[in-house]
Amino acid sequence: MIILGIETSCDETSASVVEDGIKVHSNIVASQQELHSRFGGVVPEIACRAHTDTIITVIDKAVTEANIKFKDIDAISVANTPGLIGALLIGLTTAKTLSWLLGIPLITINHLHAHIYASKIVHEDIDYPAISLVVSGGHTSLFLTQSETRHTQVGGTIDDAAGEAFDKVGKILGLGYPAGPEIDTISQKGNGKAILFPRSYLKKDSLDFSFSGVKTAVLYHCLGQDSKNTGEMPELKDREIADLAASFQEAVVDVLVNKTIFAATKFTARSIILGGGVACNSRLRQRLADAAKQRDIPLYYPSKKLCMDNAAMVAGLAYHKYDEEAFSGLEVEAMP
Ligand code: KG4
Ligand code: ZN
Repeated sequence: MIILGIETSCDETSASVVEDGIKVHSNIVASQQELHSRFGGVVPEIACRAHTDTIITVIDKAVTEANIKFKDIDAISVANTPGLIGALLIGLTTAKTLSWLLGIPLITINHLHAHIYASKIVHEDIDYPAISLVVSGGHTSLFLTQSETRHTQVGGTIDDAAGEAFDKVGKILGLGYPAGPEIDTISQKGNGKAILFPRSYLKKDSLDFSFSGVKTAVLYHCLGQDSKNTGEMPELKDREIADLAASFQEAVVDVLVNKTIFAATKFTARSIILGGGVACNSRLRQRLADAAKQRDIPLYYPSKKLCMDNAAMVAGLAYHKYDEEAFSGLEVEAMP
């Protein structure tokens, strides 16, 4: 079963050919990072234009690299929610057109469920139920996962997503965009206990997240270092930046790990699955692995390329939806 996947929910245009849900024959990702970096965040209008410019080339590359012809494809899959509405529509319209032209089924995919599925491409034998933590630039969500296609959300962020907090703190510290990878690297030279930033757990036993407080705490800590308190950002030394980055990262990771382990215990999970761009974070991987090991629960996360937005996770998950005959008609819509 050969499925073409398309992913355009945010700032990556991606197409991938995956066989039987796990054999990735191609996974082309055209990143728009350079276009957005000078604005310090994703500009929806620019994202849409870039998707429109590149999508056909990206699909062509995916098919060529997989060494197949369009007539060999059994189904077209596409992420149609959640994401930037204009960006989603470009992928969805392209997918509908291909499905109609080739006369093959269309399968629409939830982008967050695809992030969870990414682990399955690398680890075939994941035991369910699992607790899945999806941490990305746009989301911080906990799901109770019963199978590849059945997910119930049990927690989410009430303000900033984890990745968004990394990117905004990076801006405060004068780092580039997206700042997550740089904070990860710089933190390795810093002391995570240097500054005790707040950990927000919300109500007792809550599985929801809030990261706006820690972000603001970093901002005020930096401003407070200026003795004249002019409201202007003082010049920070490399050592201070490393300690700030490590202490911020530690605060975010503490909350992510504690809530995920709490959820895994509450739902008697047989596995923990980690996905999304922030799942690349080395401290989060290490801390969650240690905590899961202590409780004898296996932890699964994919390679870094499969953590970031990509279409292989979309095409892979679509294989299981094909099995369930969960097809979409051409009237299906994109949902932000
Ligand atoms: O999943 P993703 O590619 O896109 C969305 O669906 O949002 O995630 C991108 C996010 C960015 O906020 C980026 O800063 C963050 O993932 N990120 C990281 C790391 N690598 C990427 N955050 C922390 N540590 C990293 N190593
Ligand atoms: Zn994503």
